Amino acid sequence: MIPSLKNKHFLTDDDWTIAELDTVFETAFQLKSSFYAEEPTIYLPHKTLFMIFFEQSTRTRNSVEAGMTQLGGHAHDLTADKMQISHGEAPKDTAIILSRMGHGIACRNCFYGIGKKYIDEMAKYSSKPVMSLQDDVYHPFQGIADLMTIFEHLGRNTKGLKVTVSWAYADTHSKPLSVPQTQILLFPRYGIDVTVANPKEFPLSKNIIEKAKLNAQAGGGSIRFTNNMDEAFEGAQIVIPKNWGGFGYYDVDYYLQNESECKKEMKNNLEKYKSWICDEKRIKLADKNVKLMHALPADRGHEVTDEILDNENISIVFDEAENRLHTAKAVMALTM
Ligand code: CP
Repeated sequence: MIPSLKNKHFLTDDDWTIAELDTVFETAFQLKSSFYAEEPTIYLPHKTLFMIFFEQSTRTRNSVEAGMTQLGGHAHDLTADKMQISHGEAPKDTAIILSRMGHGIACRNCFYGIGKKYIDEMAKYSSKPVMSLQDDVYHPFQGIADLMTIFEHLGRNTKGLKVTVSWAYADTHSKPLSVPQTQILLFPRYGIDVTVANPKEFPLSKNIIEKAKLNAQAGGGSIRFTNNMDEAFEGAQIVIPKNWGGFGYYDVDYYLQNESECKKEMKNNLEKYKSWICDEKRIKLADKNVKLMHALPADRGHEVTDEILDNENISIVFDEAENRLHTAKAVMALTM
């Protein structure tokens, strides 16, 4: 028996049961097939979603805004600087007001130690569903798009599938921990064997690692950790090479009190690991039918070579990005 998902917040995939997530996947597959058949799917006529972005976005912003249009509603594309948030208006007040004017609130706030708390505060006071469009801890929409893509390419029986989530070098910006943390929490719930590789100065958060181990026990998957990227690629059926910042190396309160020193140390640590790239040599260590996934944007030539990212026999990153649309529509249609 699936309880109604109407008005349910979407803050982490972990808050949703397997039965609820499976309902999202069934809905997403139906919406995808209607999208290709150009059949209308007006499930949210005249409804309004308020999107608030504290950071830049290509996939998330456009999948949610296009998704709302395709469901018959509208999404307001808001940034904190357009709102009284920039003058200090509290998340509680913002949430109460927007939830009286529309049918859902979605927010991206990735500031370390701040983002998830901000979105949770909105969820506490909103009378309509609140969705995380990524925060400092979780990226729930990315997690379900990733799993939908795995189902499409490797089938619905994911028990025993070998997936490697590996840190990789990038020189763009300190990316949040939220994508790999979402993946290591979600995949083992579906029986997947996850290997996590990272340099010792770039761990994921301790509490997430402990929760992922519990999820693996409950879901029949497994999780193991290594500081060796080559070892992590051996026999992998899916590899996900992605940079993340060294936030997990620090206690959150310590980081917030010593932010500039921590950032300097993270930058120095980063430069030690330029060899952490997904290239042909590493792909050869993996399963012969290995697939490459990446949430994007990719740091080409640093996280992964063009040769691998553009190899259509290996790379499924653009299917993964497209599935952000279908899964976002499913969550919005079910909750709003
Ligand atoms: N993967 C992802 O969330 O992409 P954007 O930052 O472009 O939304």
